[in-house]
Amino acid sequence: MRSAALLVLVASISVLGVAGCAEEDDYLPPIARRDSGIPAGADAAIDAASAPSGLPCDVALVLSTYCASCHGGTPAGGATVALTTREQLLAISLTRPGMTHLEVAISQMRGATMPPAPAARVPDADIAVLEAWQAAGAPEGSCELPNDPFAGPDTCTSGRRWTGGNHESPLMRPGGTCIQCHTDMREGPRLTIAGTVYASGREVDDCNGLASSGGDPVVVEVTDSTGAVFTLSPNAAGNFFREEPVSMPITALVRYQGRERRMLTPVTSGDCNGCHTLRGTMMAPGRIVVP
Ligand code: HEC
Ligand code: HEC
Ligand code: HEC
Repeated sequence: MRSAALLVLVASISVLGVAGCAEEDDYLPPIARRDSGIPAGADAAIDAASAPSGLPCDVALVLSTYCASCHGGTPAGGATVALTTREQLLAISLTRPGMTHLEVAISQMRGATMPPAPAARVPDADIAVLEAWQAAGAPEGSCELPNDPFAGPDTCTSGRRWTGGNHESPLMRPGGTCIQCHTDMREGPRLTIAGTVYASGREVDDCNGLASSGGDPVVVEVTDSTGAVFTLSPNAAGNFFREEPVSMPITALVRYQGRERRMLTPVTSGDCNGCHTLRGTMMAPGRIVVP
């Protein structure tokens, strides 16, 4: 349901090209924070400071998905207020006296001014979560969101590595830049989308990702600029790919057991691992992680 909002995105607002330089954009602080040269330890400290408190899980999840990149415990991206605790949300706004931050937040989400363009408008269902909480008197909750998957050391969670070099296989080179290499070598299928899903954000090249199996498999969902949605299933190496045409730019999300991690920024390349490297390039936080 959330992915519906991605369709609202205008094609021209894509700020990340496949080969172009990543620009310093004010509206990309989630990433700016990660790419700011702040050492990993400091980053972890920031994440701890941003931890939501006093909030029910559904409320915390909406804020962390759409707002925490700027309104985290240490505000970034030009934002001056933190919106991660119940106390902060119920504090009176300095710019709109008489209104709480929560009230301002809801009206700005409804008015599509937060998060600032070019981020997609927050889906109605998610705004409704904050409205329902407010209508109920903003009762205190206690939610612990999962740890930051990008904070840990470099690893290979599956413990299994691809050792076949460039031997053709759908299981080949997990974590590698599939499309780039096939193009450079003029070998292998012409893929339009390809990548690898992992258990954490810091997985080394050629490490097998997460296999998609069982009754509730991991699913990668890509939405292209026409609104078409492609559902891809990672194979035994965590690799997923598609050969049929896709209209750029695209957005994507990973879904598992009712949870999701999604890319808010539209991109013009389907070579997911090209940005989602061990450390992340083009402002990506790191690997594509199962939620
Ligand atoms: C890309 C950065 C960014 C994101 C993401 C973002 N904001 Fe903002 N927000 C700002 C900036 C910049 C301001 C203006 C400076 C300030 O007041 O903090 C602002 C101001 C606000 C204010 C006004 C605070 C006040 O009372 O003066 C509220 C409320 C707010 N944002 C809510 C949200 C909510 C809710 C979300 C998520 C749905 C969100 N913002 C996402 C950057 C962001
Ligand atoms: C370093 C280069 C390189 C990388 C990285 C790479 N490939 Fe390949 N791939 C090749 C080459 C070369 C072939 C053709 C080999 C041959 O014909 O023997 C190939 C063939 C394939 C094939 C055809 C297999 C078959 O059975 O027909 C698939 C599918 C494939 N690659 C998927 C991927 C995926 C998915 C990724 C990324 C996770 C990937 N490749 C990463 C070089 C690469
Ligand atoms: C041009 C670079 C680029 C490409 C290509 C790219 N991404 Fe991203 N991705 C990003 C950036 C930057 C972010 C962080 C900002 C955001 O979430 O929008 C991100 C974030 C994400 C996230 C959320 C990160 C998190 O917090 O866990 C997911 C999931 C994701 N991407 C999946 C994909 C998939 C799947 C593909 C391939 C279809 C892909 N990405 C291709 C740059 C890229």
